Amino acid sequence: MAKITFITKDQEEIIVEATSGSVMELAVKNNVTGIDGDCGGVCSCATCHVQVDPSHVSKTGEASEIEQDMLELDDDANEYSRLCCQLQITDAMDGVVLNVVK
Ligand code: FES
Repeated sequence: MAKITFITKDQEEIIVEATSGSVMELAVKNNVTGIDGDCGGVCSCATCHVQVDPSHVSKTGEASEIEQDMLELDDDANEYSRLCCQLQITDAMDGVVLNVVK
């Protein structure tokens, strides 16, 4: 079980728990503002862009090459950016804080 905190653009804090699936699916299911998941999770829309809290990067690991290519097209991307459809929920993700970009 992993507890995941989303912080929206409006500074709303949404805390949800799950055991599996992608973080994008979890966010959409819980109506997290700013996470749309338009491409259904195939890493081609960037509507699931989040920035990992800098102290939690070890929980999420690094973006894949295809993910980095997609993020390069987004002006708001930085070194902490991830597409959360590419983040799988595992116990290792417990406690992670994700800032929603849009
Ligand atoms: S849902 Fe489209 S890139 Fe993540």
